[in-house]
This record gives sequence, structure tokens and C-alpha cells, in this order.
Amino acid sequence: MDYNMQFQWYPGHMTKAKRQMQEDIKLVDLVIELVDARIPLSSRNPDIDELGKNKARLILLNKSDLADDRQNEAWKRFFEEKGYFVVRLDARNRGGMKAVSNVIMDACKEKIERDRRRGIKNRPVRAMVVGIPNVGKSTFINTFAGKACAKTGNKPGVTKGKQWIRLNKNVELLDTPGILWPKFEDQSVGLKLACIGSIKDEILNIDELALELIRILLADYPDLLRERYALDDTTDAVEVLKQVTENRKCVKKGNEPDYSKAAALIIDEFRTGKLGKITLEKPVQEGV
Ligand code: G4P
Repeated sequence: MDYNMQFQWYPGHMTKAKRQMQEDIKLVDLVIELVDARIPLSSRNPDIDELGKNKARLILLNKSDLADDRQNEAWKRFFEEKGYFVVRLDARNRGGMKAVSNVIMDACKEKIERDRRRGIKNRPVRAMVVGIPNVGKSTFINTFAGKACAKTGNKPGVTKGKQWIRLNKNVELLDTPGILWPKFEDQSVGLKLACIGSIKDEILNIDELALELIRILLADYPDLLRERYALDDTTDAVEVLKQVTENRKCVKKGNEPDYSKAAALIIDEFRTGKLGKITLEKPVQEGV
């Protein structure tokens, strides 16, 4: 999607996107929701639960290659306990798509069974992809559909203008994903979205963002941080930033320390996975 459009949501935008999605969801049996495995709650908008009620629901923990394996497992259980089907995924990798296909069939078992009882055989399951910007929707659709996909738009019985991608004999996918707007419930959600790169860097204070990321890393992944940047035992985020600036020789004109350069470096190394497999939020048991 157009980068400039990202996160410039205003009420008109949201209403239009929501109305479109309401219409599209009517056409499908299954809603495939992508979330970012590094922030599975902050990267979703719970409004989709209302929009997608009465539909089979599949959550893809995408970019799980960048997230902590143990937390991927914990989040999978978390969503499964809430009744979603869940698959951990790297949407760039075709190898994961077989598992997705299988789970789609599983999630739609009741519908397939109902069809069969009514004498309808081999009617493909219809699905649509939804998620916030940059979560990997287009990548998923491209990888999943592959090169051999057949588009089946504008046929009788197909809403005009809608394009369906035939994935295999069992599944058809709406070719345009539904874009959900993130929900900035509190500042920490916004910060986490910024850490994974979903908010334009230009509008952010990069130093503040890096300090926030460092705080989370000091709490949950101190060894990854210390080893990567050869830090001493400090537990102070500002001190960490100073040490990274020094150790990575981040300097500006006049040999002054360049803290912003070090901040950008840490954020980049987190986003690209160089810092390690990291998840920024853990599932919490409700009511605890
Ligand atoms: P969107 O349609 O939901 O907006 O997201 P899109 O598919 O455009 O994906 C956004 C970026 O995320 C892409 O990187 C894509 O390659 C990357 N991506 C998608 N799925 C995965 C995944 O499972 N693992 C990893 N590691 N990356 C994934 P890009 O085009 O290179 O953009 P950028 O990285 O330069 O911002």
C-alpha cells in the first residue's frame, strides 16, 4: 500500500474502510487475519471480532521468523484458547502455505459438511485476508497464490469487480485485503507499532523510541542486547544508548557522539532481526 497513506487514518477513512470490509466479509466463509508475531495484540484491531462474527476465523502469526519461538508458541495457545485457528508464518516462504491450506479446511469443516448434506459438492471455501498496514497481507496473498493462480472475477454469481484467486480446488481468496486501522489505545501500543516500523519514522522522535525499545529489551532480552553491543552490566536505558554510541563509533562532525545514529542503528537491527528473535509483548491471562 501507499506508504504515505499509512497511519493517516481519520474518521472518514476508517468508516469507508470498515464499510467496504463489512461488504466483503459477507461474501466469505473465513476471515484470515494477519498479526505481527512480535506484537500480536498491538498489531490487531479487535473491531474485526465484531465484523467477522459468525465467520470461521484464522489468525496468522506472521513474521514469526523475527519473533521469539517460545512466545510464538505462547501466543498460538493464547489465540487458540479464544477459539481462533492459528498458524505461525513467514509469509515470504512458500513452504508454510501447506499448513495454512490444511488449517483453512479444518476451520471450514462445518461449512463443508453442511454443503455436503445439501448435496453441494466441491464448492470452494471463500476467504479474505485482513490486517493493519505492513503486516504482510500482500506478501501472503502473493506467496499463497503463487504464480499459477487463476483469477476468477466477473463471472455470474461473482460480485462485479471482485476478483477471486483460485488457490486450489478447495479455496478461493479475495484478491484485495481488508485494511484494518491500528488501535492506539495507549501510548505503549503506538510505541510498539513504531518499533516494528509501522509508523513513519519521520514523525517520531527516534531517540525516545530507541530508549523505549532498550527498556523492553533490558527487561526481557538483556543478554541479546549486552552481547550484541558489548555492554557492561548497566540496567539504565540512557546508559545503554551511550555505550552503543561509543562501541559502534557513532560520531558526527567535530567528533561529537551521535546518539541519534546509535538509536537508529538499534531500531534497525531490531527490525531486521540482527538483534535476535524478539517478541515485544507477552500474552497475559485475563482476569489475573
Ligand atoms: P501489507 O500488504 O500488509 O501492507 O504488507 P506487505 O505484504 O507489503 O509486507 C510488508 C513488508 O513485510 C515487506 O517488506 C515484506 O517483505 C515483509 N514481510 C511480510 N511477511 C513477512 C514475514 O513473514 N517475515 C518477514 N521477515 N518479513 C515479512 P518490504 O517490501 O521489504 O518492505 P520493507 O521491509 O522494506 O519495509
